[in-house]
Amino acid sequence: MNEQGTDKGRRRVLVAATSAVGAVGVGFAAVPFIASMNPSARARAAGAPVEADVSKLEPGALLRVKFRGQPIWVVHRTDEMLEALPTVEPKLVDPASQVATQQPEYCQNPVRAIKPRYFVAIGICTHLGCSPTYRPEFAPDDLGPEWKGGWFCPCHGSKFDLAGRVYKGVPAPTNLVIPKHTYLNDSTLLIGEDEAGAA
Ligand code: FES
Repeated sequence: MNEQGTDKGRRRVLVAATSAVGAVGVGFAAVPFIASMNPSARARAAGAPVEADVSKLEPGALLRVKFRGQPIWVVHRTDEMLEALPTVEPKLVDPASQVATQQPEYCQNPVRAIKPRYFVAIGICTHLGCSPTYRPEFAPDDLGPEWKGGWFCPCHGSKFDLAGRVYKGVPAPTNLVIPKHTYLNDSTLLIGEDEAGAA
């Protein structure tokens, strides 16, 4: 697991390869737990990788980023959230992320992330494509005492944990998809490209 982001050599290659990347600003909404940002029109049109500054994302909060018309989520997981991940594994379809199409190899680990703190995923339900709702709270009345944070899809009731892993007994067949991404430095996430190239 790469806790430090890219090393300098890799970063040089990446910078050279991504000179056309559209840098974007992050606007943090007043809505608790959820922030959003919109890449520049040029970046959107080109389908270019987009950057996100994760340094201001509060613990527990979710940042929404648009990439190629798709919603990308970035969640700053708290210690409590990370500690909950192994406890729900018996209830999951693919707790070890064995379905290779659902994440890059570098996220095929117990937290499905490059940096455990930050979870990145495409915010589209793997059943029929609705956008699941972020439900980070533990044991809310409507989701029950066993709920330890994650996403609930309002369309047909699929549930995913805080690593985007699908629960058993719901219509969605697979875990949420994790896009290619990397870190340009401690605070800058690049979505849509990694050391191996663009998505
Ligand atoms: S689209 Fe999410 S449960 Fe059907």
